[in-house]
Amino acid sequence: APGAQEFIPPQADTIDELRAAAVGCRGCELHRDASQTVFGRGDEHARVVFVGEQPGDVEDQKGLPFVGPAGRLLRRAVDDAGLDPGQIYLTNAVKHFRFERRGTRRIHQTPDRVHVTACRPWLVAEFARLHPEVVVVLGATAAKALLGPTFRVTKQRGELLPWPAAAQHPEDFARVPVDRTGAVADAPATRLLATIHPSAVLRADNQDVAYEGLVADLRVAAGALK
Ligand code: URA
Ligand code: SF4
Repeated sequence: APGAQEFIPPQADTIDELRAAAVGCRGCELHRDASQTVFGRGDEHARVVFVGEQPGDVEDQKGLPFVGPAGRLLRRAVDDAGLDPGQIYLTNAVKHFRFERRGTRRIHQTPDRVHVTACRPWLVAEFARLHPEVVVVLGATAAKALLGPTFRVTKQRGELLPWPAAAQHPEDFARVPVDRTGAVADAPATRLLATIHPSAVLRADNQDVAYEGLVADLRVAAGALK
């Protein structure tokens, strides 16, 4: 698969122009079975950007990220953490729904590294046009897309980290080693915080504890806003 890069118009100045171009992305096989591209949405001047894994079943049908059960939980957590829901932007590491058919049901499948790598140019293009103070990375797939394959959410969740240099490059991490110390020149103020995915809260044995953990991490993000 060619990856998303060739579908990104270099002259696209705005997120809306990127979103329009992403409709026709054929950068990996996932576009074939999914209903539509689900691009990021929200305030282009958002102070906080959330990065999830991929659209779910509901998102695939509606064409909007975080409108299903996980999205509902995330919005509640945003409120409980004291973040302004009008000042956020929501997107995903992978922009098409990956699933397996079982009878009439469509069962979520975690995207592979090839899908994350293929779709990464869209994420990089979004960040080239957004200027958040904090980027909240939800779960392992998004964390690996921005911090590299060795990052472990379980070890570093809730910590404010510098914006990784690799997050500015559309290429694979093999070619751009993650530099945890070097914030890039054009995004000096951006920090990154990883936490669990809202879907993991829904699957947890103790949902209340998992939810409070998510909210506690989001409060750290809220506290980092100037
Ligand atoms: N889970 C995600 O990671 N993203 C969505 O948009 C919905 C559910
Ligand atoms: Fe393009 Fe990403 Fe969809 Fe693959 S998942 S076709 S790279 S938008």
